[in-house]
Amino acid sequence: MRHILSIFDLTAAEIKEIFATTQVLKTKLKQGVREPILAGHVAALLFEKPSLRTRVSFETGMVQLGGGSLFLGEDVGWGQRECAADFARVISEYVDVVVCRAKSHATVVELAQYATCSVINGLTDTDHPCQALADLFTLQELHGPLAGKKVAFVGDANNVARSLAQACARLEVEFALAAPLGYQFENSFVKQLTAAAPQVKFTQTTDAAAAVRDAICVYTDVWASMGQEQEKSQRSKAFAPYQVNAALMQHAPANTSFLHCLPARRGEEVTDDVIDGATSAVVQQAGNRLHVQKGLLAWLLKG
Ligand code: CP
Ligand code: NVA
Repeated sequence: MRHILSIFDLTAAEIKEIFATTQVLKTKLKQGVREPILAGHVAALLFEKPSLRTRVSFETGMVQLGGGSLFLGEDVGWGQRECAADFARVISEYVDVVVCRAKSHATVVELAQYATCSVINGLTDTDHPCQALADLFTLQELHGPLAGKKVAFVGDANNVARSLAQACARLEVEFALAAPLGYQFENSFVKQLTAAAPQVKFTQTTDAAAAVRDAICVYTDVWASMGQEQEKSQRSKAFAPYQVNAALMQHAPANTSFLHCLPARRGEEVTDDVIDGATSAVVQQAGNRLHVQKGLLAWLLKG
């Protein structure tokens, strides 16, 4: 029984196995084949924050695999009616996996500590591992084998950036972050990242043009994440020079893909012409959340 709370809970070989299963499941679905490999299995979705992609892709994925899902709202009393340990032990008696989106990463760690079924992180303040798996799967579809290639993230060193950097480290993909000072990765995270993959190039800079040079992908996310709404005006000022627009994309190769985890704040971190442009892959990327999470569920629950 395994918990997937961060990308570093998976080895490179395991990520590749998940991608291989994902590819099979995606191809079969396109052919109209939906094998019930998780028949009778149930996922509970415990969400403390809003979601479109994560919720719908997990619920749909479970149904396509022959299982089912339960979306748990406030009435189950998570964090209110009983202690986390009792909640975790009891829900594990009913379901095969809990997907949890929590305000604080400590919450999913506590849930996993007591759960006797698998826990998957569906986003916390520090991590978004399912997103990063879909991101690299998408880039592999678009650009072939990824080792030695370069991904540029222009924007806040947030949950999405951290998981993406970890996934790049695992798959030996160079990672460059461009962000204003004060919004780059913390030293402790950089140490963990570079210790995990000392052979993989990692840079963080204030120079967005330098970061995107030679990159196969320019990635961005909102400047103020869920829970940071009160910092919005201060962040808008700090990140204004880091907007992903046509002028910045000029510094990247012509076939560089644009990725964004979505939801996007169009006109802020990205302009319409870039997100709707010929090299934007945001819809394919969002679609791959479904396929990769099916790969992850099949791998986790069936081996
Ligand atoms: N990218 C992502 O996780 O989207 P949702 O917040 O809609 O789930
Ligand atoms: N960084 C964003 C990602 C949303 C999918 C947030 O945490 O709000």
